[in-house]
Amino acid sequence: MAELSRADLQPLAERLLKADLVGALTGAGVSKESGVPTFREADGLWNKFRPEELANVDAFISNPKRVWDWYNWRRDLMGKVDPNPGHIALVQFDSLLEEFVLVTQNVDNLHNRAGSANVIELHGNIERNKCHSCGRFVDEVVFEKDTLPKCDCGGMIRPDVVWFGEMLPEQAITTAWQVAEKADVFFSIGTSAAVYPAAALPFEAKRAGAYVVEINPVPTELSRVADLVLQGPSGEILPRIADVIREVKGE
Ligand code: OAD
Repeated sequence: MAELSRADLQPLAERLLKADLVGALTGAGVSKESGVPTFREADGLWNKFRPEELANVDAFISNPKRVWDWYNWRRDLMGKVDPNPGHIALVQFDSLLEEFVLVTQNVDNLHNRAGSANVIELHGNIERNKCHSCGRFVDEVVFEKDTLPKCDCGGMIRPDVVWFGEMLPEQAITTAWQVAEKADVFFSIGTSAAVYPAAALPFEAKRAGAYVVEINPVPTELSRVADLVLQGPSGEILPRIADVIREVKGE
């Protein structure tokens, strides 16, 4: 990717500075440069593992140990990596722009760890646990030999992530939808835009009149409707956008 010049990004920066509300939807690609695998790329998780055996309520009921082993492996991996320059540039959007809301499909907690202020988690957060029966949040889970964590109510504790076939957290999807409808500019960053309802957000933003910007090294379903497609890694493109916003602001 040739480096994006100030001239390439100045019209976008000016538009962002005029916007009352800027929204963004992020996906696994935004964390790839931190070392977190994506799902649908050639080396992605869903090319190595079967989602119906791991990210699915029936799988948890029939084989909770297999599901927990997989989530503990991912939790461990995600706990060892750090936010990358893309996450950090998105934190800077909070102070550079009038209002910025970050909607993420990622469960890796890296936007929060980077310091983003307004993060809406559509698919949960792998660092949290909850009871599958009563819904109570549980801070610490203990895995004693051959036993899995149980709630005081007797229910099974599970990671607080959304599995295939489950509803998204109602407040999160409602707020995300409002952002898509109200935003003047809406980004889709590092997502294949393939999993609904999250994938509908940039399309809804476009329908409602937002200027839609996609950042991804490869084209997606969204590319043909996006107003601007910036092809490349988000860890390089987002810091360039933040730099040009600062230059246009004279900071
Ligand atoms: P995918 O694996 O479907 O897509 C990742 C996207 O990131 C691809 O389009 C890549 O081209 C792009 N990408 C790769 N490297 C990148 C980089 N350095 N910078 C920017 N983009 C890059 O992941 P998601 O779209 O996040 O859901 O998947 C959506 C949902 O499907 C996930 O939240 C998960 C999964 O099943 C659940 O588990 C419920």
